[in-house]
Amino acid sequence: MIKVSPSILSADFANLESEMARLKDCGAHWAHVDVMDGHFVPNMSIGAVVVKAISKVSDLPLDVHLMISDPDRYVDDFIKAGSHIITIHEECNSDVMAVLKHIKDAGVKCALSIKPNTPVSALEKYIDILDMVLIMTVEPGFGGQKFIEACLPKIAEARALIDARNPDCLLEIDGGVTCDNVAAAKAAGANVIVAGSSVFGASDMRTAIEILGK
Ligand code: DX5
Ligand code: ZN
Repeated sequence: MIKVSPSILSADFANLESEMARLKDCGAHWAHVDVMDGHFVPNMSIGAVVVKAISKVSDLPLDVHLMISDPDRYVDDFIKAGSHIITIHEECNSDVMAVLKHIKDAGVKCALSIKPNTPVSALEKYIDILDMVLIMTVEPGFGGQKFIEACLPKIAEARALIDARNPDCLLEIDGGVTCDNVAAAKAAGANVIVAGSSVFGASDMRTAIEILGK
């Protein structure tokens, strides 16, 4: 089954409670929360206080994507805030294995992401403990960018790694995903679809989520 995890980076931040309700009504499986520190990526977004606030008003599982340089310093805040799954980046400054284990030991699902220029082989030493791999299909930092087609072979490569080593591990893609290009990503093996602008900018959110998830 495909899960759709719309990115609330494209939501109306003045009305997050109703935006979360709208996502749920329209059939989203998770809500993707993009956390940016202005250091790992050239943009800042929201932190754990917002994750905590939305976890109180919505029962959609929160898929928290930490685009931050030092996840070891902040991950406890996101664990306590009610995250369902926390993704860190392989390219961060922290001890990646230690942070992943810490997330897992706290009873939260752990995931690891790679940026477009990082090879899938960078995931190999972590794959056994991961609940999800996230292949970025744009350079992280901003919503509304164009899907990088050259990332499609990486999705297939990650699928092969997962099938060989940890078949229960989910495979998420994030960045520039639309109703028009999602089929190729799913054919390559992705089973969790993040989409921001193409969900919140759709004239009919329910139909967009349905297409992304089928
Ligand atoms: C990019 C973020 C994405 C982004 C997705 O840095 O990680 O989650 O918001 O937005 P769209 O779907 O608009 O590319
Ligand atoms: Zn994201």
